[in-house]
Amino acid sequence: MKIVLDHITKKFPNINKKEKSEVTAVDDFSYEIPDGKLVALLGPSGCGKSTILNLISGLEKPTQGKVFFGDDDVTGLPAENRGVGLVFQNYALYPHLTVRENIRFPLENLKGDKKLSKEEMEEKVQRVAKLVQIEALLDRRPSEMSGGQQQRVAIARALVKKPKVLLLDEPLSNLDARLRLQTREELRRIQLETGITTIFVTHDQEEAMSISDYIVVMKEGRLMQKGVPQKVYDSPDNLFVAKFLGTPQINVFSGEIKDNALFIGKDKIRDGINSIDKKVYVGVRPEGFEPSKDGVLRCEFQKLEVMGRDASILSHNDNFDGTVIRSIIPSDTEVKTTGGEIVFNLKPWKTFVFDSVSEERILID
Ligand SMILES: Nc1ncnc2c1ncn2[C@@H]1O[C@H](COP(=O)(O)OP(=O)(O)OP(=O)(O)O)[C@@H](O)[C@H]1O
Ligand SMILES: [Mg+2]
Repeated sequence: MKIVLDHITKKFPNINKKEKSEVTAVDDFSYEIPDGKLVALLGPSGCGKSTILNLISGLEKPTQGKVFFGDDDVTGLPAENRGVGLVFQNYALYPHLTVRENIRFPLENLKGDKKLSKEEMEEKVQRVAKLVQIEALLDRRPSEMSGGQQQRVAIARALVKKPKVLLLDEPLSNLDARLRLQTREELRRIQLETGITTIFVTHDQEEAMSISDYIVVMKEGRLMQKGVPQKVYDSPDNLFVAKFLGTPQINVFSGEIKDNALFIGKDKIRDGINSIDKKVYVGVRPEGFEPSKDGVLRCEFQKLEVMGRDASILSHNDNFDGTVIRSIIPSDTEVKTTGGEIVFNLKPWKTFVFDSVSEERILID
């Protein structure tokens, strides 16, 4: 089922009651989540990700705007009638119940013609336990399982009522790196197998990029960019998104467009730019640098770090915004430096130009 968020704004009263101002957790946010897809909501802490999930689940009501499930306006519909499965940021299993009882819990209080017999409940529990591969653990208690197993129990519990929508709020945050990788692949498998429209919150951009059909990048309650992960990475709309996606981070230089050419300091990076003269930021992805003696950007060489397949060149340039320019090249590339200087060519498709005031992308090609 598709979900539509139509110009949603959510304001909370300021916790400090003496202050009149409100906190705007979500700011005029519009997005359509296509049926059966996995969408990752991505952004720094406090940008409104959990609030968006709570607005979809019905735990919060928007201050303005509407929520649609399919064509139905559910803005006023209570959470229990929305058919949403939710795994919270700090998922909590009931410690005194077994895995079976934990998963069965949402089925126990169904009323009227939805009421289930013991056998029906057991059958549903078995089915989801199988899906998340914990059939053998049904008689254990949460304390007798690993973090990843507990995670899967929480997901099974969210799935047992066959929700139309699955909302996962940082479901992997408590797992170690290895288990996290395994569990995220498993999550994707379950999502593909069930075809449930799923919204997944994370602040880990790699996690978001690796398992989702679409990503939505947020900042301070606003939608900054949405799209297929690789497309957003390859074509960021603004400096925030460019910086947010990619490890190591994009390298940002202050530069300018002058007489239809792009400069970083005195180095002319490119000719034939169709723009008025202005100050800009130039972002270059780490994989966008090619050492070349007749390159365009001169930097002070600091260090070469070889890490198996790749090597990382650390260098410095006076117009660089951060401490060290990090460029990544294949480890079998020969790196020549002369007098402590290294010269790079910049791959045009890995180089982005942003207005220095609005920080919006300027298309120069
Ligand atoms: N019930 C509330 N009352 C007041 N302010 C709130 C409430 N819930 C959230 N906020 C504020 O709204 C903003 C968005 O919060 P939200 O929990 O949605 O962020 P988040 O993106 O999920 O962050 P995190 O990654 O840390 O979980 C924050 O500034 C937060 O302090
Ligand atoms: Mg949150």
